[in-house]
Amino acid sequence: MLTIFPEMFTPLQESIIKRAQEAELIQIKLVDFRDYALSKHKNVDDVPYGGGAGMVLKPEPIYRAVKDLGISNGKRKIVLLTPQGEVFNQKKAIEFANYDELVFLCGHYEGFDERIRVLADEEISVGDYVLTGGELASMVIIDAVARLVPGVLGKESSAEQDSHRQGLLEYPQYTRPPEYEGLEVPEILLSGHHARIMAWRRKESLRRTFLRRPDLFQSIEFEKEDYPLLEEIALEHPEIAEHRERWEHLKPLIKRRSKKRNISTDNTLE
Ligand SMILES: C[S@@+](CC[C@H](N)C(=O)[O-])C[C@H]1O[C@@H](n2cnc3c(N)ncnc32)[C@H](O)[C@@H]1O
Repeated sequence: MLTIFPEMFTPLQESIIKRAQEAELIQIKLVDFRDYALSKHKNVDDVPYGGGAGMVLKPEPIYRAVKDLGISNGKRKIVLLTPQGEVFNQKKAIEFANYDELVFLCGHYEGFDERIRVLADEEISVGDYVLTGGELASMVIIDAVARLVPGVLGKESSAEQDSHRQGLLEYPQYTRPPEYEGLEVPEILLSGHHARIMAWRRKESLRRTFLRRPDLFQSIEFEKEDYPLLEEIALEHPEIAEHRERWEHLKPLIKRRSKKRNISTDNTLE
């Protein structure tokens, strides 16, 4: 993390991210690029050429800090945090988790000298809003990436089922008690029937994504098993029927599959 406010990173000293560092699954190194300032007063910012409000981060301290990182022992990516960058999402988190080293350049004040852009492999935004600095943005990214590193979460499957992992929102989750304030846990979850529970979860994931995030629903790659679930959802939410053409193509696949199964059963090959 290249920042002028290393003390802002204390949240990474808590909970799962703290344990991941203790277990040496991840390592977080804070570099104060003020230490690389050339002037006597360690100035890292200056007024913008051409006038205007606020201060702009100077190029020299950040260039010098990046040079001082030396050669990486593995795959390294340098990420510049900026509201003008590509918007971060789970797909990006998965991509970043494949790197050995991520270097985050945190802007502050009115932003940074344009020449700092040259240092970055990628420019990333955490959303279409403006923060006071890149520190919080980079912590969001670290948190999302670190939990994908094997061993950081207790069970790897807990990240597998997460919302966005498969382009879908996660199904509703419940824990004990089975009934609280008149609100009951769906009976199927108490049944112990694994296959039915999995189908219910998939259906609720599809339903949730359709109702809450139609934008995501547009890009889901449906599986053959989704066809009957989507049919059921279409009966419960007639408006989903408008999207039917998106899964109609699964119908022949299912027919072909059951036909194939019949043939092999007849020939006692299966
Ligand atoms: C106040 S912002 C500067 C915004 C800049 N004037 C602009 O309009 O692009 C200061 C710094 O916060 C960080 N920042 C602010 N919003 C961000 C966002 N949505 N995603 C990532 N970084 C952000 C960037 O590092 C940025 O240089």
